[in-house]
Amino acid sequence: MDIKTFKPRKLEIPVTEIEQASFCRLDDNLRSKTLEEEFKSGVKWQKVPIRYLKMKPDEIDSEIIKMKSMIGDKLFILGHHYQREEVIKFADTTGDSFKLSLEASKVKNAEYIVFCGVHFMAETADILTTSNQKVILPNMAAGCSMADMASAEDVEDAWKFVEENFDDFIPITYMNSTASIKSLCGKNGGMVCTSSNAKASFEQYLPKGKKIFFFPDQHLGRNTALSLGVKKDEVKVWNPFKENGGLTLDELNKTKVLVWQGHCSVHTRFNIDQIEEAKSKGANVIVHPECTNEVVSQADYVGSTEYIIDVVNDAEPGTKWGVGTEINLVKRLASQNPDKEIFCLDPIVCPCATMYRIHPAYLLWVLDGIAAGLVINQVDVDFEKKVNSKIALERMLNLPK
Ligand code: 13P
Ligand code: SF4
Repeated sequence: MDIKTFKPRKLEIPVTEIEQASFCRLDDNLRSKTLEEEFKSGVKWQKVPIRYLKMKPDEIDSEIIKMKSMIGDKLFILGHHYQREEVIKFADTTGDSFKLSLEASKVKNAEYIVFCGVHFMAETADILTTSNQKVILPNMAAGCSMADMASAEDVEDAWKFVEENFDDFIPITYMNSTASIKSLCGKNGGMVCTSSNAKASFEQYLPKGKKIFFFPDQHLGRNTALSLGVKKDEVKVWNPFKENGGLTLDELNKTKVLVWQGHCSVHTRFNIDQIEEAKSKGANVIVHPECTNEVVSQADYVGSTEYIIDVVNDAEPGTKWGVGTEINLVKRLASQNPDKEIFCLDPIVCPCATMYRIHPAYLLWVLDGIAAGLVINQVDVDFEKKVNSKIALERMLNLPK
């Protein structure tokens, strides 16, 4: 990418990020309304047949129960912890990204795997399941604003530039990325990681004198690097809107961990004032590593969604917890631990707008399809990408525990 060929792209805010902001509100009533009513807030979700628009949540509930028992063992539903209550209650297993990818690789009997989560998770499940199994995402518009910040084309250009100029960079991608990026990592000696094993993945390369190019979450990349003793000025951000990421060759030469300029619109809402407020009430503060380094360094505990659940569940009765992660999970934790005081650090309620796109009506729609012999919304990664992404995912699954 030299000066003659570089064409700066217009800085565009992903639609999902705009929708995220319009979802924030003051009341914490997260109960589902009819799909028709939810559509009124101007969301750009997948269209469904008219009958699903008007169905009341209770009606949908009893239909889902009927369909689940009608389809039986051929069906397995995976649910990420950030899903709405009305959806996650139908999951055969729940988990964070890492646990769900493990579960997907182990479910051998089910012909239909319905993934209540977001698109990159369904792609991962498709890569890790057999060719006879079909992975279904109830609403195809359920993406991830962070994954949208790293287009395959931009990442390929950036990797090409780095690879042409240096021979010691290794690409690692966060699970929250497209199969094309996972495939690029698999092809080039790198791997996938999740927030549960980012540290272990970096430890595979840094001690051998390798440098890391991490996609697409700058915060998880920076937090992981700093936790392993990499200095602040050895972490640089690749800005895809600038020529050569906005960096000189000399700067890249001095870099140990290069992080893509991406972020999670849910976890970057947490800030120092909220932490101070929580601590002033005597609360312990626990946050996800997609938060900024400023927040992570002031928190008492930092870890993946599954880690947060374990720490809070195991805490002493009577303790107080200010939690920096997605609101659906925080509310669930609070209701499952009535002997503790658990609250979200952010007083404004902002569910992850893309996880939220799995309204129960979509779940019912795809189950009705299966019962009628129709596969609606299959996520099918193409063969070449599957082969190389699988290499990158297996490197992650084989990381030392
Ligand atoms: P984990 O599921 O790895 O904790 O990641 C959180 C997240 O943001 C999922 O999109
Ligand atoms: Fe993406 Fe953040 Fe939502 Fe996870 S919580 S799906 S990273 S926007």
